[in-house]
Amino acid sequence: MHMPEPYRIKMVEPIHLLPKEQREQKLKEAGLNVFSLKAQDVFIDLLTDSGTNAMSDNQWAGIMMGDESYAGCRNFYNLQDTAQSIFECKYIIPTHQGRGAENLLFGLLIKHGQYVLGNVHFDTTEAHITLKGGQPVNLVIDEAYDTSTYHPFKGNVDTQKLEQFIEEHGAENIAFMLITVTCNTVGGQPVSMENIKQVSQICRRHGIKVFIDAARFAENAYFIKTREEAYKDKSIPEIVSEMFSYADGFTFSAKKDALVNIGGMIGIMNDEELYLRLREQVIIYEGFPTYGGLAGRDLEAISRGLREVLDFDYLQSRVGQVEYLGSLLTEAGIPIQTPVGGHAVFVDAGKMLPHIRWDNFPGVALTSELYLEGGVRAVEIGSLLMGKQAPTELVRLTIPRRVYTNSHMDYVAECLSNINKRKEQVRGVRITYEPPVLRHFLARFEWA
Ligand code: F0G
Repeated sequence: MHMPEPYRIKMVEPIHLLPKEQREQKLKEAGLNVFSLKAQDVFIDLLTDSGTNAMSDNQWAGIMMGDESYAGCRNFYNLQDTAQSIFECKYIIPTHQGRGAENLLFGLLIKHGQYVLGNVHFDTTEAHITLKGGQPVNLVIDEAYDTSTYHPFKGNVDTQKLEQFIEEHGAENIAFMLITVTCNTVGGQPVSMENIKQVSQICRRHGIKVFIDAARFAENAYFIKTREEAYKDKSIPEIVSEMFSYADGFTFSAKKDALVNIGGMIGIMNDEELYLRLREQVIIYEGFPTYGGLAGRDLEAISRGLREVLDFDYLQSRVGQVEYLGSLLTEAGIPIQTPVGGHAVFVDAGKMLPHIRWDNFPGVALTSELYLEGGVRAVEIGSLLMGKQAPTELVRLTIPRRVYTNSHMDYVAECLSNINKRKEQVRGVRITYEPPVLRHFLARFEWA
């Protein structure tokens, strides 16, 4: 039987659809870059699942229990207890968000010129690796880039490529391994337990430390439970604990699976020396080690969210909603990354709009059309984001947690289906301005 969401709604936030002429005007003013739109001019916002979550009554109650002492606030200790019990890590360092964690950890671990291996690093991750003098290397399996074939764990690291890379470049030139779960850039695709274990064994054999980019750790655990035979009878907390037993530590953007609007942290399993060095660094860049740039109330909301996200019924309805949108698009004949990921449906804009060349950004063209069609905001994950020709031109329809209903999903699918019917007429775009790093946030375009 189809089960509905395991919660009901007790507060609503009105949203509005601007008339078509105004949407045209707003998009033009934004230089065809949806990042430059005002959120109030967007009807359904699928830009990101990051920090866009709806908190529970329990989390809001926790907000009122914020202890705003500069040092040693009780909410830090609550979060530490929670993290220690879920991830079985000895130490945590709170940070203002995921990239704050990346900045601190990478600064200590990367020596100039060293490689940082991963399945596919997220864009801020890649930027922080590069800024610290490191070289990001993506070793995901080839299936990740073939959107039309099914593979249950497209986020897996190719262990053969990994062994070969270590052999060719030497373990001493590798700073560490970072496994991103789920792997955002290739479609929110999960990594199997088997793969995490193997990668960890290979790395440990060579003395290479393993970290997890844990932003969507619970969604990854859900996929392990539902797709990996050996884990079907294990609970989500058991799976999470095993996943992290293969790592030396993790970076975490709480804005995803902690079901909050801001926050992050670093977790260190055992390495006391690394923890002590991080503790010195966090004071310089984020704040005192018991708040790390966050208010006490934020720490409390993260702590409570981390416990809520482990609920199987929640995860099933969460991923179920993403799958529902994916099935509507497939029915409408729109090419998507198969299977859908944990947090988003990735439309293959390159396949949908084959007449648009990569340097006329099919993904940007599609996001623009989607805003014009129905006030829906999506995001390009393709050549614009990569800063060079990308292996795939994707558009991510990212679903915030506990925010929209399936009726919103029906509407989004209808908008895309309308565009699909007139896809030959969709034009590419040309860049008129681009900043030197992370250009996708601020670039401007005109229709080609
Ligand atoms: N790692 C992954 C896998 C991410 O998806 C993100 C953010 C970060 C790290 C950085 O965390 O935003 O808290 O500093 N992803 C967002 C997104 C921005 O839209 O996918 P942050």
